[in-house]
Amino acid sequence: MTDTIDTATVAHRPDPDAWRAAGDAWGHRAADWACLFEHYSFEVLTAMFPKVGAGSGVELLDIACGAGMAVQHARAAGATVSGIDAAAALIEVARARNPGADLRVGSMFELPWENGSFDAAISVNGIWGGCEPALAEALRVLRPGGLLGISFWGVGPPLDLRPCFKVLAGHAPNEHLTSMKRLNDIAFPGVAEEMLGHAGFDVLEQGRRVSTIEWPDPDIAWRALASTGPAVPALRHGDPAAVRRDVLAAIEPCRDENGIYRFRNDHRFVIAQKPPALSEQANSV
Ligand SMILES: C[S@@+](CC[C@H](N)C(=O)[O-])C[C@H]1O[C@@H](n2cnc3c(N)ncnc32)[C@H](O)[C@@H]1O
Repeated sequence: MTDTIDTATVAHRPDPDAWRAAGDAWGHRAADWACLFEHYSFEVLTAMFPKVGAGSGVELLDIACGAGMAVQHARAAGATVSGIDAAAALIEVARARNPGADLRVGSMFELPWENGSFDAAISVNGIWGGCEPALAEALRVLRPGGLLGISFWGVGPPLDLRPCFKVLAGHAPNEHLTSMKRLNDIAFPGVAEEMLGHAGFDVLEQGRRVSTIEWPDPDIAWRALASTGPAVPALRHGDPAAVRRDVLAAIEPCRDENGIYRFRNDHRFVIAQKPPALSEQANSV
């Protein structure tokens, strides 16, 4: 454990190897994450892409890119996309989905790109409370005037996935709870904006979408939820059969009359800009 950041979810800078533990957790069921969960973000991606200019001629970095669905979308919009994630198993899927893209296994706290390499960057639920050093790195690799979009779960309503994550937390060791609280700080109004401001960004705008994710039956729902990083401490510390039983009981109210589990969640984003170079600022006056 490093600082109070949870290595099953995100790795904090003071321990140079902690990002590997985060990557192992998020990649522990990579195929299930990639095929059953990752599309949770499509509403927020659709909102953020035009705002960061993800399109033809733009060089974009996806920080904590996971299995590369956002990379795929940005490439389809014409951007040249690079990505980094701590989970080798997810990067393997991302590479298969995005032939030729520069996708690397590594830490967002030490981005392996030169200063000023990108016009834009995104991080979809990859930068959490306590991840300020990742924002400093994002600032470094952006060109002056470059745009950054980050997304994260808000405080709701709706927050239909909350009961499930409460169950997972209840089966996890105690220290996991403390660290999750810090990570989830970013949900509260103003926290992301403050983090971005401290890192040197100008905050341009905030937005919100409701993410909708569905699964057709209990087995698929369990596989999707068990593929997430926060499931790992519960599965390793608790009895996996009891975790599955309790999760399925907690999500039963989200089942509709057709048997489909449907979860709606408050998904927030903030768009920020690296200050333009002084000469550009003078020209715009
Ligand atoms: C909630 S998932 C989001 C993944 C992807 N952006 C998406 O929306 O599907 C969080 C991701 O952060 C990655 N991650 C955690 N700590 C990291 C670190 N220090 N450096 C790079 N990636 C990290 C995990 O491996 C995981 O893929």
